[in-house]
Amino acid sequence: MPPRPLPLLNPALPVIWYGGDYNPEQWPEEVWIEDVRLMKEAGINLATVGVFAWSRLEPRPGEFDFGWLDRVLDLLHAHGIRVCLATATASPPPWFVHRHPESAPVTAEGVRLTYGSRQCYSPASRAYREAAATLAGRMAERYARHPALVAWHINNELGCHVAECHGEESTRGFREWLRRRHGTLDALNDAWGTAFWSQGYSSWEEINTPRRTPYLPNGAQALDFRRYCSDLLLDIYRAELAAVRRHSELPATTNLMGFHRPTDYFSWGPDLDFASWDAYPEPHDTLGGAIWAGFSHDLTRGVRPDRPWVLMEQAVASTNWNACGMTKPPGRMRALSYQALAHGADGILFFQFRTSRYGMEKFLPGLVPHGGTKGSRVWGEVCRLGAELARLGELVGSQAANQVAILVSWPNRWGLEQAGKPQAFDYPAELLAVYERLWRRGIGVDMVPPGANLAAYSLVFAPCLYQIGEADAARLLAYVEGGGALALGWFSGVVDESERAHLGGYPGPLAAAIGAVVEEWHALPPNREWAGEIGGRPCAVRHWAEAVHTRGAEVLGSFREGPLAGRPLALRHRHGRGLAWYLAGKPSAAEDLGRWIDCILEERGLRAEIAAGPDVEVAWRVGGHGRFLFLINHGEAPSHVRLHAVEGADLLDGKRYRGNVPLQPAEVRVLRAGA
Ligand code: GLA
Repeated sequence: MPPRPLPLLNPALPVIWYGGDYNPEQWPEEVWIEDVRLMKEAGINLATVGVFAWSRLEPRPGEFDFGWLDRVLDLLHAHGIRVCLATATASPPPWFVHRHPESAPVTAEGVRLTYGSRQCYSPASRAYREAAATLAGRMAERYARHPALVAWHINNELGCHVAECHGEESTRGFREWLRRRHGTLDALNDAWGTAFWSQGYSSWEEINTPRRTPYLPNGAQALDFRRYCSDLLLDIYRAELAAVRRHSELPATTNLMGFHRPTDYFSWGPDLDFASWDAYPEPHDTLGGAIWAGFSHDLTRGVRPDRPWVLMEQAVASTNWNACGMTKPPGRMRALSYQALAHGADGILFFQFRTSRYGMEKFLPGLVPHGGTKGSRVWGEVCRLGAELARLGELVGSQAANQVAILVSWPNRWGLEQAGKPQAFDYPAELLAVYERLWRRGIGVDMVPPGANLAAYSLVFAPCLYQIGEADAARLLAYVEGGGALALGWFSGVVDESERAHLGGYPGPLAAAIGAVVEEWHALPPNREWAGEIGGRPCAVRHWAEAVHTRGAEVLGSFREGPLAGRPLALRHRHGRGLAWYLAGKPSAAEDLGRWIDCILEERGLRAEIAAGPDVEVAWRVGGHGRFLFLINHGEAPSHVRLHAVEGADLLDGKRYRGNVPLQPAEVRVLRAGA
């Protein structure tokens, strides 16, 4: 039985959404007429309007000018183009900052930022939050029943440039937030371990945001500050959404930014009607960029797994903010768009429709280039994709159905990446290393937080799960005891949610699952590695190694040199009805980590249905209308897949494929699979 289809993003637009940010306030009205004509030509069905339009909508305090936006929405509607309407709050106008100087953000060094760019507000500013909610409410009041509207786009990339503030208001807010979290000063002193370095607080008023300090700041304080700031940014979203909800029940989202460090999107999920995000993979690393994008797509889907998600922005050709904003070669934008669909997106949108003539993004190409659409390669690709997506309506509502999950945790990242450790850790890189192997094996993955219900998964990877609290650990243990499988990476189970070390041996509360405890660590300098083996095959270790004592675990491999020679490197343990694996060091080579992963997959009977050639992504969507197989060559050389147990008709060219299917660079097939 295929899973039930996910609900539509909005039944009023029951197709794949296609379009992008549209900023008509930058252009005279005669250009708008040309814009809608071109939108129709490209098969665009959705425009995201008004993201940065605050100063045009409220040019002076309390003085609103909606006339131009009325005309824009009416024009779009007259041409059958639906609208995702922004609340227009992304960037307060200069008058606002002038009136509320305290709303401008202050850095950890005490520098107050000013207007003249964008997003000049402190996440803690009540004045900003109220003004944003007021504008959002005015927008909703006026446009809730406009026939073009299908969704709300709340704010824009919250926390993209300013994710924290160290001004007075933020500091006061932090104290209140801490009171709510810890209750008493004693509890806070205890949680923050302030007996260390004489940091004990004798009143709430003494507590500051973690500003510049002479030496390492208190890690528990820094961690709580990250939580506070993530909550503040969510509060802005909530305040705007509440104002919108007084007038409109249309679905709302805000554009997320993948594994954006400051914002714990898992805690945002319940407030989003659907998740959306802005994907800008590194342009010069075609394959690496695609793997990173796949990871981020899956993470976005995990924020709101019960709904389809939307690719809210991508670049049609190049960006202007990378070290080198390389232009996507022909076909690559299309391939990356299909990749988003393959990972469950029901909308493919761009930043932005018409390239700006002025401003700091005038060299970031939109769909309509400065030179116009005639003879434009980019425009040709946009039109082709629009025509194709219009024929793919049966994909809508189908979803990924995965048996493997990776645990991802923002608070873990915040703690893991703090200074004060014998070695530096790059959490996203550790996650990606595991993800990449699964990607190359054609195994679909869900991203879940440590507290998630894992019952649906046959196997769960937890790389560098440094921070784990008792409650989450208990859930993980219960999952394994009940028959689940956990593959735990090194440097896991080290501290609790307040950065206090687990006593009694790492991985603390997870030690029972792996049947072993870590006694001590060895940080290795960059040019050092120690030989080791797993299952009789060499596996050298670099960066990090651990001295482990087994407590019932079976040893699958050991170190062969260095102070740990002869001691366990890889462990496997039966716990309850389930299994746990542990790796007590970081393999030097991706291939060695990969082999460890392969062995675990094999033991769990997890095998891709399709044998894919190098650099080919294989992904499935399943739903009410069938099983859909996406084959995408992200490489720069011809590749192939071998279809044996599966064959299918390509929704794009109508032909049937089976056996050896060649795939040119950037080539895509979307097969409706049959046996
Ligand atoms: C972000 C923003 C857009 C634009 C693009 C440019 O995603 O949301 O407004 O600045 O980046 O890449």
